[in-house]
Amino acid sequence: MFMLLRYWERKPESLIEKYIDYTSDVVLDPFGGSGLIVRYVAERGKEGIYVDINPYAYLVAFVNTQPIDKSEFKEKAYEVLEIARKMRTRKRVLSNDYLYYKDGKSFLKKEKVERVSELFTLDSFRKLYTILKAIDKVVDSGIQFPTAIALYGAFCATLFPSSKMKRKNAGSWGVPSYWVPEKHEEQDPYQVFERQIENFSRKFITKQLNVKLFLGNALTFKYGKYRSATLFTDPPFFDEIQYMELSFFYWAWLKESKFPLLLKKYIGKRVTFSFSEEIVYNPVRNDKISYEQKLELFLKKTKKMKEKILIFHEENEKVRNRIIEKINNIWGRIEIETEVVHNHRKIGKRGGNEYIIVISS
Ligand SMILES: C[S@@+](CC[C@H](N)C(=O)[O-])C[C@H]1O[C@@H](n2cnc3c(N)ncnc32)[C@H](O)[C@@H]1O
Repeated sequence: MFMLLRYWERKPESLIEKYIDYTSDVVLDPFGGSGLIVRYVAERGKEGIYVDINPYAYLVAFVNTQPIDKSEFKEKAYEVLEIARKMRTRKRVLSNDYLYYKDGKSFLKKEKVERVSELFTLDSFRKLYTILKAIDKVVDSGIQFPTAIALYGAFCATLFPSSKMKRKNAGSWGVPSYWVPEKHEEQDPYQVFERQIENFSRKFITKQLNVKLFLGNALTFKYGKYRSATLFTDPPFFDEIQYMELSFFYWAWLKESKFPLLLKKYIGKRVTFSFSEEIVYNPVRNDKISYEQKLELFLKKTKKMKEKILIFHEENEKVRNRIIEKINNIWGRIEIETEVVHNHRKIGKRGGNEYIIVISS
């Protein structure tokens, strides 16, 4: 399945396909990420309910699951480019874009660089800034909400290839950590944005899918309404990607734009980027509630759901058994299956390719 905007740790489709027949007509994924699971089930006639705490994940899932008016997008995107090319800015850095937590600890994924702005040459930075401000302007002139989100999406897709993180001959997807390779080859932001306009408008989905998106916390989500739905999800586990740290590359830019306000109007609540609410195993962070406590809370919250399918991977046997025991203690009556996925990027620190699927009904 083609996804317009990429995200980390996208699950292999073969895995989802194998379990889709076990799911009821409504499927809930409270750790929705790129929206792959909800899109997959919706394309097969079911309803997909998506939740994620991360506003960047929400943006990614939005462009991957919502129909967008191609002709309006194209017209407005070229207008953005025209405005941006004429715009001048003296801006040199983004505000509050340091790769540090509030308590002064640095991001786990920070290597050598100090802030997001440093990842761009001044020329690229300024061109990107003009694109972002031009999008704000065009959005203000009154366009459909999905088109506006897609414009910010195309902007995000422009960031990595325009940054100093882009290696020569490497693909246009990155940010596994914050570093500048010795041989980098950043591309011209205006050219990349134009490429993304074409790329996006070729690949929008055209029909309305039965998908509901929520920007919210899996630990406080009201599951009661969805008790007879199937929970089908993959929470972040021990050797996981630092989703919010890495999304900060995009968020540092988006928060300078009208994106947070626009989204707030649409979803009816303030849009924040809250590291402390994220469930993630991060040995650097001093979260008040530990990773394991949060995971336990999630299991308790979802205990009453009729059917549950949880995907994870963990190469350390001890840790793996501890997690399984925890799930069994809370959910009860679990079955475990394993699935080795070939032809997929290796997962985990040690490069394994085995997923564990826990089923409880
Ligand atoms: C393993 S990823 C999901 C990947 C997804 N299945 C895909 O294929 O793209 C886990 C997701 O959980 C989200 N997450 C972490 N803590 C959360 C919380 N408290 N509430 C909701 N989502 C959370 C992260 O932002 C991340 O997107």
